[in-house]
Amino acid sequence: MADFRAFIAEKQDDRVERGVRTLSEDDLPEGDVTVRVEYSSVNYKDGLATTPKGRVARISPLVPGVDLAGTVESSDADGIAAGDGVIVHGYDLGVAHHGGYAERARVPADWVVPLPEGLSARQAMTLGTAGFTAGLSVHALEARGLRPDQGPVLVMGATGGVGSVAVGILAERGYEVVAATGKADEDDYLRSLGAAEVIGREEVTAESERPLESERWAAVVDPIGGSGTAYALRTARYGGAVAVSGLTAGPSLQTTVLPFILRGVALLGIDSVQAPMEVRREVWQRLADELRPRGLDDAIPTEIGLEDLEAALDGILAGKARGRTVVRVAG
Ligand SMILES: NC(=O)c1ccc[n+]([C@@H]2O[C@H](COP(=O)([O-])OP(=O)(O)OC[C@H]3O[C@@H](n4cnc5c(N)ncnc54)[C@H](OP(=O)(O)O)[C@@H]3O)[C@@H](O)[C@H]2O)c1
Repeated sequence: MADFRAFIAEKQDDRVERGVRTLSEDDLPEGDVTVRVEYSSVNYKDGLATTPKGRVARISPLVPGVDLAGTVESSDADGIAAGDGVIVHGYDLGVAHHGGYAERARVPADWVVPLPEGLSARQAMTLGTAGFTAGLSVHALEARGLRPDQGPVLVMGATGGVGSVAVGILAERGYEVVAATGKADEDDYLRSLGAAEVIGREEVTAESERPLESERWAAVVDPIGGSGTAYALRTARYGGAVAVSGLTAGPSLQTTVLPFILRGVALLGIDSVQAPMEVRREVWQRLADELRPRGLDDAIPTEIGLEDLEAALDGILAGKARGRTVVRVAG
């Protein structure tokens, strides 16, 4: 195998050195499947994996990138052959095992999801970990019985990766989507993804002494956590559900049991990292088809190369990301 380019994060005392370097086959980790990586993406966790305080990276030097899509170059595994289109995300990828920010990746066969028919590698990484998490959130809410005629669905952190894809999925499925954002000038953007109404982040993260407030939401897609989750629980309608996947507003949750015992509200935990393989395959299949978000090819992605990653990683940690950033790795 010829040498290949990779973006590396390496801990040096109390800082992390980042940049594009050339690696050889000897630098690849153990695994049964070698992939020519076409696209990866920028997720909040990638930002954390490349900063000293992030406490996410477990090896150094590390090729970050918690997701990738590409073509199998060689495989020792049954059912996976050279030439297959594949997606890999989660598990230890990009945190304790070299990830998607390199032209080649080698992974265990049981991390590999077939690229569904109808999705290109670029579209798969426009979705990426954040989009899969948005899909998993909608999948879980609908499995509990959510339907478009039950009332408005609130999406928090709406201009972010999970949020923007969730807005696009729900709008395409006929839901009345209310988008909450901290970015005052992104009203038009969120409406282009299908939001019927846009509200301010301050409204959904305000502290309150009241354990219950007026019933508003049939469901909430919540990638922000903290005070946002507390708000979602006290404003969910009777029988509603909150799908919580993230913590950009903080990890602590202050609530009471009243939303659960008086309104039958459910708090659904959403995890993409260890999601079982049969769930991954099902949700990816659905993302290629009935969960395909509005804006998949235009409003959601911004494309960059490996050399642009430093700025993009800093930007996502600063809460500046809009939609999804796809990383073009090998042409
Ligand atoms: N459970 C899982 O498997 C899983 C998978 C993927 C991601 N996540 C988590 O989900 C979260 C979002 O990930 P992402 O990739 O979508 O990140 P992202 O693109 O950075 O989106 C997060 C959005 O949250 C909002 N936000 C930023 N700072 C905030 C604050 N201080 N308080 C409230 N809202 C804030 C911003 O949206 P607005 O400006 O529009 O408000 C931001 O764009 C992260 O915590 C991530 O770790 C979890």
